[in-house]
Amino acid sequence: MTPAAEVPVVTIDGPSGSGKGTIARRVAASLGWHLLDSGALYRLVALAAEHRGVALGDAEALAGIAAGLDVRFDSDAAGGERIWLDGEQVTAEIRAEETGKGASAVAVFAPVRAALLDLQRGFRRPPGLVADGRDMGTQVFRDASLKVFLTASAEERARRRHKQLKDKGIDVSLAALSRDIEDRDRRDSERPVAPLCPAEDARMLDSSGRSIEAVTQTVLGWIGEVLDVGREVGRADRT
Ligand code: DC
Repeated sequence: MTPAAEVPVVTIDGPSGSGKGTIARRVAASLGWHLLDSGALYRLVALAAEHRGVALGDAEALAGIAAGLDVRFDSDAAGGERIWLDGEQVTAEIRAEETGKGASAVAVFAPVRAALLDLQRGFRRPPGLVADGRDMGTQVFRDASLKVFLTASAEERARRRHKQLKDKGIDVSLAALSRDIEDRDRRDSERPVAPLCPAEDARMLDSSGRSIEAVTQTVLGWIGEVLDVGREVGRADRT
């Protein structure tokens, strides 16, 4: 068995709406690697707390939830991602704005973050892992082969999120969304534990005004510079 430390990891960190989830999914699919959507874990802790009537300020109880999180990721027949919490499907529920806010609130507590560490590191399996979040490069996978910090202007992130929600039939005002995004950025960046910030050795990538395809190709190109596998896939995809 390949020791976990030898399994290559690419981290993609950045603020809400920078497109890291989409890019991480595409890069992982291109390489045939596993994917860790670490934000989903914080969302699941917030959702489980809501289901069990635990207050979002009760660090100890939240850490208990995080330590015993009964979560399963799989896909339906069409390849669509499904997420299960305590045996119940919560795929759509965890993407709600409220759950995102709850996730950002529970994520400030060090014991919650510590309780999720092993779970996250368990996703590191051959042939490789693409991990997206806020602290993948700075805390969880400090030895990653490539660290990307993906950004986009606050206006563009709010516009993207607005479109995503509208496509799902959810009507929220753009102004309210912008405010929420700014609040969330502030809380994620200013918290004392594992704040949102680029790792010292991260490569910065601004996705404003760039297509998903172009950003994906940039990341695959970078992987090609540091690992043989990325170069192969990056080249094949560009032809
Ligand atoms: O990426 P997302 O919107 O699903 O993340 C939801 C919240 O979870 C985010 O506002 C902060 C928290 N989070 C975190 O603190 N660390 C991570 N690695 C991922 C998410």
